[in-house]
Amino acid sequence: MIPPFLVELSYLAAAVCFILGLKLLGSPATARQGNQLSGLGMLVAVTVTLFDRSILSYGTIIGGMLFGTGAGLWMARSVKMTSMPQMVALLNGFGGGASLLVGGAEFLKAELAGINPPISTSITIQLSMLIGAVTLTGSLIAFAKLQELIGGRPVTFAGQQPFNILVAVAIVALATYQIATPEPILWPFYAVVGLALLLGVLLVIPIGGADMPVVIALLNSYSGIAAAMTGFVINNHVLIIAGALVGSSGIILTQIMCKAMNRSLSNVLFGAFGAASTAAAGEQRSATGLTVRSVTPEDAALQLAYARLVVVVPGYGMAVAQAQHQVRELAELIEGRGGEVRYAIHPVAGRMPGHMNVLLAEANVPYDKLYDMDQINGEFPRVDVALVIGANDVVNPAARSDPASPIYGMPILNVDQAQSIIVMKRGMSPGFAGIENELFYDSKTSMLFGDARASLTTLVGEVKAL
Ligand code: TAP
Repeated sequence: MIPPFLVELSYLAAAVCFILGLKLLGSPATARQGNQLSGLGMLVAVTVTLFDRSILSYGTIIGGMLFGTGAGLWMARSVKMTSMPQMVALLNGFGGGASLLVGGAEFLKAELAGINPPISTSITIQLSMLIGAVTLTGSLIAFAKLQELIGGRPVTFAGQQPFNILVAVAIVALATYQIATPEPILWPFYAVVGLALLLGVLLVIPIGGADMPVVIALLNSYSGIAAAMTGFVINNHVLIIAGALVGSSGIILTQIMCKAMNRSLSNVLFGAFGAASTAAAGEQRSATGLTVRSVTPEDAALQLAYARLVVVVPGYGMAVAQAQHQVRELAELIEGRGGEVRYAIHPVAGRMPGHMNVLLAEANVPYDKLYDMDQINGEFPRVDVALVIGANDVVNPAARSDPASPIYGMPILNVDQAQSIIVMKRGMSPGFAGIENELFYDSKTSMLFGDARASLTTLVGEVKAL
């Protein structure tokens, strides 16, 4: 046993580590430190809890730590950057599952011993199990969609929302019945857990694969709320604090993503974005019969080599092609010739928050060359060449000009205002939103078709040869 004041002091230290860690995560320059500090806080919290409650033997604790460290290291090193959202989904699912197990164990312990816990404890136990179960199965579906184990398209059926509401109402009714019944009964418990697991599946299947990052941020928030509830159940302060931090940061992130896409959370959750209606919008726009102008790598290299200001606009295609290193190489060549290169970062470019920042940081692009949308948008009229690398929706002018477009109102990078635009992509496929992009038909735009990495490698060679 550790003296209680030492336990609480350690928990306080862990909470401070979490909060400072979150703060440090706010900038790419300090994010790594933030991650390490939060990890340290978690290590303190878990170790103190295990020792304090004499839960496990020293050998098991050390064995568990070694196993956990090994598994974490392996995952961090082997999971590709583009697969990070599904890894987060899986980890959220584990968090939800843990809350379900702890809440369930506490319930069964009290019920089988014939103890009636105070009503507040009973409600917290039910909430911990309910949110944990929804998070578990919802996250597993999100993981399966992103990992392409199941189709990514929204799965919808007639009466889906009324059915979901019915399941939710049944869960609340059964949980209330369970709490109100003094005799030990188990069937409502099993029914609540079963229905909550079902609800997690039902809530996530109508959401398209590409909306999953938003759902994952939301499920992350749920896993935090479930953990906080579990903290109340087992009276563990650090779990309450950590859960509250995860719960609130997850919901803030969800809101930032929705705002950057100009969509409401309800539209993401219930709008079945990516289903047939979106494709129809794309088909309509393609009937305009405009033509595109393609450019050879030699001509593109000439334009870039003699430009004074080049703004690189990376998007999902750069991530797919893993072209970040070649981007930096090209930028250094342009800079070596006296030009200036900046990077314009849209908040939802790619498929996860901070996707472009992480990739560019990995390629050692200096942070001070990365510009947020608000910082760079006013600059585009004086940009000689905007180099769009695998970005599509985030530079689509329809978001400003076409009220019929599904992305109308979404803030975009004003690439169309640059003096000239070079777009690198493989063909004319639409992006995530499934719609045409008139930027590609603009008289100032030249298309450099091909895989972004291959095209950039050729461009680097061409600029070097000049
Ligand atoms: P997108 O609009 O998805 O467009 C990506 C483009 O990359 C595609 O048009 C594709 O065209 C091209 N591409 C794919 N592979 C390529 C390769 N190997 N080389 C070159 N090009 C390649 O990307 P974006 O502009 O980054 O926009 C992101 C979208 O995702 C937004 O609509 C956003 O709302 C959504 N979204 C983002 C997030 C977060 S948090 N970032 C979360 C949910 C949804 P080709 O196939 O013709 O090459």
